[in-house]
Amino acid sequence: MSESTQELSENPSADLNSRRLLLKTTVTVGTIGVVATAVPFVESMLPSEKAKAAAGPVDVDISKLAPGQLMTTAWRGRPIWVLHRTKEELAALPKMEHLLADPYSKQPQQPPEMKDLDLKGGTRSIKPEYLVLVSICTHLGCIPSYMPEPGSLDSSWPGGFLCPCHGSRYDLSGRVLANFPAPLNLPVPPHYYESDTMIKVGTLKDGDDQNWEPNTW
Ligand code: FES
Repeated sequence: MSESTQELSENPSADLNSRRLLLKTTVTVGTIGVVATAVPFVESMLPSEKAKAAAGPVDVDISKLAPGQLMTTAWRGRPIWVLHRTKEELAALPKMEHLLADPYSKQPQQPPEMKDLDLKGGTRSIKPEYLVLVSICTHLGCIPSYMPEPGSLDSSWPGGFLCPCHGSRYDLSGRVLANFPAPLNLPVPPHYYESDTMIKVGTLKDGDDQNWEPNTW
């Protein structure tokens, strides 16, 4: 068990409560910090109380998302990524398992009702090529950077996401590497495919899980 996972399990209630508080604070401060450069995005990241209460599912059009590309949208005031993984990236995922804190996503960082999510195979997705994630680091709430090129961080880097705040690393399924500060995988929000090119994020097909929250919110 990694040091960070151990720390979480020793006093889970206190740890998660303090982490939730820190995450809320950090996300708020981080959001304010980008006001000067990204007003339209910030507006979507700071919903009114009424909007928050009514924050419903969002449609995400992936028809123009090419292999290797990442797009960002928002749901419930949180940034959401959709990544179109290449065949090579998918083939590399099983080789990551020995480096990961929770390779099969046993921690509830995805709705348990999503039986069609491939957790054992490590893709954490309904269709292997498309990954949907909440892009908020599970340590203290920074937004990781997309660094897909193997070797771009150091010679052992297989490609993935790097948190710029304290260096936590995630693979291209949002699974956290062991022995870094972040304790949990990036959350997979509830979602389903309305068509081959349209994903509904924020609900399951039967309308369930619209209020679902991972451990770190
Ligand atoms: S916020 Fe600390 S590693 Fe991401």
